Amino acid sequence: MQEELARRLATIEGIFDTGLLEGRGEKEAEVACYYEQSRWAYKIFHSNEGAMHLALSPDGVFDKQGYLGQAREVERLIGPDTESVLELATGNGFNLRYLAERHPHTSFTGLDLVATHVAAARAKADGLGNARFLEGDFHRLPFDAETFDVLFVVESLCHATDLDTALQEAHRVLRPGGVFVVIDGWRTARFAELPAEARRAATATEQAMSVAQPLVIDDWLDAVAERGFEVVEERDLTQQVLPTVRRLERIARVVFGHPRATRAAQRVLPERFLMNGIAVYLMQLTLAGGVHTYRLVVLRR
Ligand SMILES: C[S@@+](CC[C@H](N)C(=O)[O-])C[C@H]1O[C@@H](n2cnc3c(N)ncnc32)[C@H](O)[C@@H]1O
Repeated sequence: MQEELARRLATIEGIFDTGLLEGRGEKEAEVACYYEQSRWAYKIFHSNEGAMHLALSPDGVFDKQGYLGQAREVERLIGPDTESVLELATGNGFNLRYLAERHPHTSFTGLDLVATHVAAARAKADGLGNARFLEGDFHRLPFDAETFDVLFVVESLCHATDLDTALQEAHRVLRPGGVFVVIDGWRTARFAELPAEARRAATATEQAMSVAQPLVIDDWLDAVAERGFEVVEERDLTQQVLPTVRRLERIARVVFGHPRATRAAQRVLPERFLMNGIAVYLMQLTLAGGVHTYRLVVLRR
């Protein structure tokens, strides 16, 4: 795995300016730029319905229904007494829409940094009376303390430029006893054992996806405990996302494996759009090799 990771990094570095992968994802402006430019990539390669996360495939075979997997995990925690739910970084509102349609007596709020995502979420949820979408930053939540019963965030907290502030805000707006579901990717302790070159390739994966402060899962769990959350569930879903990652990786291999295809792609596609290709080209190896992990963590305030 390590040799293959290094070989693929060399391919990438032969194609792109190596500076491209340095210093990415440090500012919210970078994250917003990444999503503005990657908008079409998500629509074409992920889902036309607006999902911006990896599908979950419990039986090991990619199926579009798998994009509902994360919302279904959150749904387990919504009961008859749940009054209000907040999704941080809702994207196009794919998860929230599914939940709001199925729970008409609960009020749902989705917040996202990127104005075009919020506009798309609103348009898609037109007529859904119990869902609202707001533009905003999860480091500075525009809500009173103890407003929500359930909070959730899918593949987005990794973009936090200041994790402690984001956690503090989540804790503030959650009612005592409320739950915060986080579904995301992290480094594993194995990261530190990799030789320098393979570590650089794994870091390139994170940079290509605008991960602001890559963390080892155990350090992240320590950080949430320090913020006053109790971990009530932690589940490894890595195997379940691999079918989607492999599907995307096959496309990246065609683009990066043939110099002509690469040059054509560079001519017509925005830089950040291509960066997505770098991420999936490397990520299949880092996930399958146990360097990165995809998990569901349920926290209670
Ligand atoms: C991978 S997408 C996931 C979107 C959505 N959760 C889903 O599952 O379809 C990450 C989202 O995080 C949003 N985001 C990144 N940083 C943010 C921040 N500081 N505050 C709010 N949203 C943010 C992006 O605009 C993008 O919509």
